[in-house]
Amino acid sequence: MSTDLQELFQSNRAWAAKTEAREPGFFTRLLQQQSPQYLWIGCADSRVPANDLVGLLPGELFVHRNVANLLVHSDLNALSVIQYAVDALKVSHIIVVGHSNCGGVRAAMMNQRAGLVDNWLRHVQDVRDAHEGFLAGLHESLQVNALVELNVLEQARNVCRTTVVTDAWQRGQSVVVHGWVYGLHNGLLEDLRITATSATEVGLAYDTALALVKQRYRQQQAQVLADTTAPATQNGALNAD
Ligand code: CO
Repeated sequence: MSTDLQELFQSNRAWAAKTEAREPGFFTRLLQQQSPQYLWIGCADSRVPANDLVGLLPGELFVHRNVANLLVHSDLNALSVIQYAVDALKVSHIIVVGHSNCGGVRAAMMNQRAGLVDNWLRHVQDVRDAHEGFLAGLHESLQVNALVELNVLEQARNVCRTTVVTDAWQRGQSVVVHGWVYGLHNGLLEDLRITATSATEVGLAYDTALALVKQRYRQQQAQVLADTTAPATQNGALNAD
C-alpha cells in the first residue's frame, strides 16, 4: 500500500492539465476572485460529491458538508460558512441537500450506537421525535428516507432562522433558501419545495413542504401495503406493482 498517496497526486496532475487544456487560463482567472452563486450544505458521505452532481466547476459552488447535513444553531463552523457566503460572497442561493439511505440518519432512526457521533446525531433524533407519530405509521422500509426528508426541511428552516440570513433579508439582500434530496440509487436531485425568499415566507414554506413529504410517504406506504398483501399470480410470482 502506498503511504505517500502518489496515485492521488498523479490524478491531480492529470486533472489540472485537462482543465487547463479545456479552458486556458482557468486557474489564473480563479486567482482573481471566487464568485459562487450557491452555498451547498450537504452530507459528508463520499457518494454525494457536491460539484459533480450539479456540474459546477471550481469557483462556482461554496460548500459545507457534515454528517447528516445539519445546521445546528450553535455550530460556529457552519454559521461562519453561511456568514462568509452571504455577507462576503453574496451567494443568491443556500441549498440544504440530504440524500437517501443516509447512514447518519439511519443510525439516528434506529438508535444505533457509533460513538461520539451519536451526540451529533441526537439533533436528527430530535427531528425524529418531533415527527414520531408520522414515522411510526410508516413501513420500516420507508422510515429512513422519510426522516432524511424531514431532516432537510428542519435544517433548511434552521438556515432561515440564523441571524445571518434574517439580517440579510431585513436589509433587502436577495437570498433564497432551498431544501433538496439526492437519490443515491439514481443520481437525481429532487426539490422538497421549502423554498423561502423572506422571513415571512418560512412558516408557510415549511408547512407546505412538510405536507408534501407526508402525502408522498403515505402514498408509498399504501403501495408497500398493497405489495405485501397482494395475492400470488397464477405463475406464483408476486405482483410487482
Ligand atoms: Co449521509
